Amino acid sequence: MTVLLTGGAGYIGSHTALSILNSGKEVVVLDNLSNASPEALTRVEQLTGKKAPLVVGDCANREDLEKVFSQYKIDQVVHFAGLKAVGESVAKPLMYYRNNLDATLTLLEVMQEHGCFDIVFSSSATVYGTIQEMPLKETFPLGCTNPYGWTKFMSEQILRDTGKADPRFHIVLLRYFNPVGAHESGQIGEDPSGIPNNLMPFICQVARGRLKELAVFGNDYPTKDGTGVRDFIHVMDLAEGHLAALSYAEKHAGVEVFNLGTGTGYSVLDLVHTFEKVNQIKVPYRIAPRRPGDIATCYADPSKAKEMLGWSAKRSLEDMCRDAWNWQKNNPDGYRR
Ligand code: NAD
Ligand code: UFG
Repeated sequence: MTVLLTGGAGYIGSHTALSILNSGKEVVVLDNLSNASPEALTRVEQLTGKKAPLVVGDCANREDLEKVFSQYKIDQVVHFAGLKAVGESVAKPLMYYRNNLDATLTLLEVMQEHGCFDIVFSSSATVYGTIQEMPLKETFPLGCTNPYGWTKFMSEQILRDTGKADPRFHIVLLRYFNPVGAHESGQIGEDPSGIPNNLMPFICQVARGRLKELAVFGNDYPTKDGTGVRDFIHVMDLAEGHLAALSYAEKHAGVEVFNLGTGTGYSVLDLVHTFEKVNQIKVPYRIAPRRPGDIATCYADPSKAKEMLGWSAKRSLEDMCRDAWNWQKNNPDGYRR
């Protein structure tokens, strides 16, 4: 059984590649390296003793995809490839719609032509928009607040319509909450280029002394300590969620959607203080104005994934903080070291 990971050299893709290889399946990666280093896959090979061949190419480019499907017998696909920076998507909407939607459309066309019908798609909790009722259930109405979110919303719709029209498709949509942390070896992890947008990589770089302090965006939200609350999920739990989704896809035609979160919300300050305690290191911070577009609270109802996929997150906030710092400490400059 061979699984193609589009965008598989990236943060979530490389951790998922490791889990899939350890499960006994083969992995092939297609990545244009726009936000990744091939070193991630070299390390996956070192950790697993198995190779995941990397095809450097664009998922929106039919020829590149044709090459992969002709060279390998692909049984299943996990579609990670996409641009993911919310702020950048507001500034460059066309780039986001072009890249993320073309990648999904071209991939589905080429899969259909090559008789491959199992696909797991990386969606996001961002498709729930500004809903305030928590926890978020898969049945809630959707709506987005930025072009990145709309590309996920539209890709979900494209996949739903494709599944409806062609009953040979087995489609699983996974809505990730806030993936953080790294593999426990400290050999692979999140490697953002430039100044990180997301909280955990920012905290890591402050702890390391590369950035002076964390700006906590708002302490006047209606939450227990006034700071934003999110459903942080360990990236290895998320990776294992993909294994469960691939097994589900093997057996089930049609389209199914699952939240992948822990079901517990922690605040920004919970994360900062847990990081300090677990790693015995200070994270200087100051309170700053709210970040435009942020919502107060966001956490999942993960019960559907537990019932239907037999998957639930196992790792604690302490594990996430320890593993994120272990990766950062071992690789102060990420894969560029
Ligand atoms: P990432 O940027 O590390 O990985 C995405 C990978 O896709 C990168 O390796 C990049 O080089 C590649 N890529 C982008 N466009 C491509 C294209 N046209 N052709 C081939 N490769 C392409 O991001 P990640 O955090 O690993 O996210 C993986 C997926 O999960 C993305 O679709 C993202 O939108 C989604 N997601 C991420 C989060 C998060 O917080 N990290 C949350 C929800 C959903
Ligand atoms: N935050 C800070 N300071 C920072 C960065 C973030 O206080 O420097 C706060 C934010 O205001 C928010 C929380 O930390 O309250 C989490 O912010 P992130 O940027 O880490 O994550 P978001 O919840 O904003 O968004 C993430 C991904 C999106 C995805 C969403 C839901 O970046 O792509 O989770 O899955 F859509």
